[in-house]
Amino acid sequence: MNDLHRRKFLKGAAVLSGAAICGIATAKNAKADDRLPENFVPPPLPWGYQELDPEYVRKLGHLGYYLEECGGGAFWAIMTALKEKVGYPYTLIPLPTKEEFLDHLAGKGEGKHLQGVMQYGVGGVSNFGSLCGAPNGSASAITYAVPFEIVQQIVPRLLRYYESGSFPSDEVNSYAVNKELYPPKYKSGKKLPQSVGHSVLCHVSVGKWCEHSGYASGSSERSERCGRLTGDIAAMEVTLLNAHLKGNLETVYPMKLTQETAGCRSCHYKDKKYEQGQFTRGSMECSSCHTDMTPHKGENNLKTAFGTDVGTWAGAAVIGTTAGIGTHAVAGRFNNKEPHDEE
Ligand code: HEC
Ligand code: HEC
Repeated sequence: MNDLHRRKFLKGAAVLSGAAICGIATAKNAKADDRLPENFVPPPLPWGYQELDPEYVRKLGHLGYYLEECGGGAFWAIMTALKEKVGYPYTLIPLPTKEEFLDHLAGKGEGKHLQGVMQYGVGGVSNFGSLCGAPNGSASAITYAVPFEIVQQIVPRLLRYYESGSFPSDEVNSYAVNKELYPPKYKSGKKLPQSVGHSVLCHVSVGKWCEHSGYASGSSERSERCGRLTGDIAAMEVTLLNAHLKGNLETVYPMKLTQETAGCRSCHYKDKKYEQGQFTRGSMECSSCHTDMTPHKGENNLKTAFGTDVGTWAGAAVIGTTAGIGTHAVAGRFNNKEPHDEE
């Protein structure tokens, strides 16, 4: 802990617990006076947010990836920027400093990794290829910062940005080409090809990028691509939070599903009427997996309580969509306090 953080931290701890902080600690791995008093209680969440610079966070996200991959890197970037700006209680989170990271990369550290919170997010949760770590780590970070109802408005937007954006962005590509990113030596200094994943899954996003770019999944270019993407996603999270702070989230990033997904979701969402299609949940882009977009015309093996005529439903869907039960109405579920997606 450096002096500045230490002082703020001690002040905060004293206010919070009302305890005297002296002569308590004998922990082996921490300096004796670094230890918290035994009756110390961290403050309840949320810990608050102050406007952050998305471009700074983009660069931190890229650096974070070099030692803690996508999940740990995105979390580290946002939390480090918050720690620097807000101080206590963000100083309570174990976060290696930027200088420690850079020392490691310069070969002065011990071992390959500095272990970090959310690092398990790597490769879609410990390399299982499911949810990409970058939005996972970012979402975790903001859950420290803002009330949960705000998290619920911001995270789906971040996931839509992830699904629909072309990565790595022009911004981060140009930082790399101009050598404005932090690591002393990049995995690749090239302007990397960009692709749209249409999915929040690591498996799909990486696969599509590899197919598009011609680089193998184990190449250093693919790794660099994920590092830059980590920066992009962390930066977007901060952009969304800044917008929320100024009350213009809806203008900066309106929640918009594809027309197709919105159409499907006019029937398939989380609710009670099984026979109307309410035996699913979620808002991922349906067409990334359901490639045959006429699921209702073929023979179906799903039993509904009332043996719905699937052909009729599909027809109704088209009418429903063109009549405007479309993108906006469905997206509205994220803002209104309807129960569909909250548990
Ligand atoms: C990541 C891939 C993926 C995405 C994206 C996806 N689905 Fe599915 N969906 C599946 C799989 C896999 C099944 C199970 C298929 C089976 O049981 O044969 C399924 C099943 C379903 C079923 C049948 C119920 C069931 O459990 O068998 C419906 C209805 C459905 N999905 C609708 C949607 C809608 C609507 C969307 C978009 C909001 C969507 N899906 C997005 C993969 C996906
Ligand atoms: C107008 C309502 C409606 C819309 C719109 C709709 N569905 Fe369905 N869907 C249903 C109903 C109802 C069922 C269950 C039918 C049954 O099994 O009796 C169903 C069943 C399914 C199944 C399971 C079919 C099977 O063979 O197991 C899938 C998959 C599915 N829908 C995907 C989609 C996708 C993808 C879209 C958007 C392109 C979509 N649905 C749009 C009402 C709808």
